[in-house]
Amino acid sequence: MPLLIKNGLVVNADSQIRADVYVEDETISRIEPSIDLAELPAGTNMVDATDRLVFPGFIDPHVHINLPFMGTNAIDDHDSATQAALVGGTTTIIEMICPGPDDEPRAAFETWMGLAEDGANCDYSFHLSVVRFDALADQQIRELVADHGVASFKIFLAYKGALDISDSNLIPLLELARDLGVIVTAHCENAEAIDAMQRRLLADGKTGPEWHEPSRPRSVEASGVNHLCTFAELTGAHVYIVHTSCKAALDEAIAARGRGVNVWVESVAPHLVLDHSYAERPGFEGAKFVMSPPLRDAEEHDPLWKGIADRSISTIGTDHAPFNFGDQKSMGREAFTAIPNGIPSVQERVDLVHTYGVDAGRIDLETMVDACSTQAAKIFGLFPRKGVIAVGSDADLVIYDPSFEGIFDVADSLSKTDYSGYQGMRRKGRAEVVVLRGRTVARNGRFVGEAGGGRYLGRTPSH
Ligand code: URP
Ligand code: ZN
Ligand code: ZN
Repeated sequence: MPLLIKNGLVVNADSQIRADVYVEDETISRIEPSIDLAELPAGTNMVDATDRLVFPGFIDPHVHINLPFMGTNAIDDHDSATQAALVGGTTTIIEMICPGPDDEPRAAFETWMGLAEDGANCDYSFHLSVVRFDALADQQIRELVADHGVASFKIFLAYKGALDISDSNLIPLLELARDLGVIVTAHCENAEAIDAMQRRLLADGKTGPEWHEPSRPRSVEASGVNHLCTFAELTGAHVYIVHTSCKAALDEAIAARGRGVNVWVESVAPHLVLDHSYAERPGFEGAKFVMSPPLRDAEEHDPLWKGIADRSISTIGTDHAPFNFGDQKSMGREAFTAIPNGIPSVQERVDLVHTYGVDAGRIDLETMVDACSTQAAKIFGLFPRKGVIAVGSDADLVIYDPSFEGIFDVADSLSKTDYSGYQGMRRKGRAEVVVLRGRTVARNGRFVGEAGGGRYLGRTPSH
C-alpha cells in the first residue's frame, strides 16, 4: 500500500525541510513541498506529521543479542531485541557475531544468521568478531566477506583469555582487512593492565561493583586506543573505536587521525547520560551499571557531547548487552569481575539522544541524525540505501513527536531484562510511527509489525 507522510519537518544529516514524503513499495519515490493525496492511487495511506519530525530510520551500529559471555548469554532474543529497537525508532541494527577462541568464523556466522533469520523484526547486518587468526580463519573470513557481504570485523583488546586477540594475530588480521577493504571495529582497553588491577583489588577485599571502574581507569582505555591506532598506522587498515567513554581515549584517536590514521570513533548512549555514581549504588544495585569500558565520572559527558557536536565522534550506538539483574548480574555478588558486563539500551537510545543532546541544547537535529543514522550507514557500507531520506532510499522513516514528555520505565521496555538502566530519568520525545521499508512496524511504543519481517543486509567492503 503506498504511503504519504504529510506536513512533517524532514530532517537529514545536512538539512531540515518542510516536505511531504511519498513511499511506493519499499522505497521513497517523491519528496516535495506539497503532494496532494487526491492525486495519488486509491488506497494510499496517509500519516499527518504536522508538528512532527520525520527522521530517516535510525541505525544502531553496536548491538549484542546472542552474546555467550562471562558464563552466561545475554537475555534478549532477536524477536525481543528488534521489537525494542523498532519501537525506539531504530530500523537497522548491526550485531556483533562473537565466537569464542575455539569457534570457527563460518560456523559462528551460520549460528548468528540462523537466529536472526528466525527472529529479527528490523533489518540487520553483522560485524564478525575475530578472536584467533590462523590459516583456516583467514580462508573462512575471505569467504564470508565475498559470499555473504560481511564488510566489517570486530576485535577485542580486552577480556583476557576469553575474547582478546593477540598482537601476533592482530597484525595479519589488519593486513587482511586492509587488502579486502574491510573496516575493523575495536574494543580498546589493555587486557593485561586490567587483569593485574582486578587481581590487586580483589586481593585487597575490594569486591563490589563500585570497583569495576577503578580496575580499568581511563588511562587503560586511552592506552588501548593508542595501541590499536599504532597497529592501524603500521598496516594502513581502517579502524573504528567502539564505545569511547572518555576524553583521554577520544584525544588519542584525534591525535592518530592527525597523523593520517584512518580512524572513526563511536560513543554509546550509557556513556553519554550515566556516570560512575550509578555503579556505586548500595545493595549491589550498582551491578546493573557494570559495563566495559566502565561508566566514568559525569565530567566526561561534556567532552563526549562536544565531540559529537564537532563530529570528531562519528556515531552514537548503544552496545546493547542485556543481562538480568536477578539471576545474571548476581553471579558477581562475591566478585565484581564475575558480573556480566553490559547495559540494555537499544530501545532508549534515540530518545536519550533527543532528550540529553537536542533538548538540552548540546547538539542540533541534523547532528542527531548524522550520529544516530547517517554516519553508521556511510562507514559500514549501507548508504544511501539507509541513513537518509532521499528518493530511491529504503522507506525507513520515523515520525517523531519532539514534545512528548515522560520518563524511562522498565514497564515500557520490550527488551527482556528485568531492569532499565534509565529508570525514572526524564524523557523528551517519542517515535510515534516507525516505518520499515514502507510498512508501519511500531506505533507509540507498541510493535505492530509482521513477526520476523527484518531483512539481512549484505554489504560491499567500502574501505
Ligand atoms: O560491557 C559491555 N560492553 N558488554 C558487551 C561486550 C562488549 O565489550 O562490547
Ligand atoms: Zn566492547
Ligand atoms: Zn559491545
